[in-house]
Amino acid sequence: RRVAVLISGRGSNMAALLEAAAAPGFPAEVALVLSNRADAAGLAHAAARGVATAVVESRPHGRDRAAHERAVQSVLEAHGIELVCLAGYMRILTPWLVGRWAGRMLNIHPSLLPAFPGLDTHQRAIAAGCTLHGCTVHLVTEEMDAGPILAQAAVPVLPGDDPDTLAARVLAQEHRLYPLALRRVAAGAGWAADPGAAPGAAPE
Ligand code: GRF
Repeated sequence: RRVAVLISGRGSNMAALLEAAAAPGFPAEVALVLSNRADAAGLAHAAARGVATAVVESRPHGRDRAAHERAVQSVLEAHGIELVCLAGYMRILTPWLVGRWAGRMLNIHPSLLPAFPGLDTHQRAIAAGCTLHGCTVHLVTEEMDAGPILAQAAVPVLPGDDPDTLAARVLAQEHRLYPLALRRVAAGAGWAADPGAAPGAAPE
């Protein structure tokens, strides 16, 4: 399966996917890393590993979200992409793009969904007094951070944690979880034959 990873910044999850996909027998190949920001640090990492990169900035399109997404879609098509992984891609997608990729677009979110959709998840988990926190890989649907859950990993919230220490603990799990979920989806569970069917959440 030809996979595109969409990023906006650091790209550490993208790097984890690249590394996993390089292993023999992995059922997907990262064929493209696409960023909506030219200054995304992850782009250089991908290029250094010989992966095609593309920048589709939103600014030239102003408030025209649809025009930006059409540009993204045409780059994905030009690269023969079959599966999309959002990895720190900081754009809210319209139903049009989500619909094009129904059942074939994954996202990683730094909380145990459905708790804490949206931003500042680590700070919110600490403020809420959670003793468990973690990350979720899910299929992307029109509602943000709400699609069918593919995989989750939990970490403890420890006394004295601040958002940074907690984020680091979660991030280590993200880097393990995302390749695992991609492997499962690319290998066929819930693959496009029935885009509405999510592979069930599996215990990690
Ligand atoms: C990760 O915490 C991811 O879960 C969230 O944004 C962050 C991206 O980090 N969606 P990176 O760019 O993958 O390093």
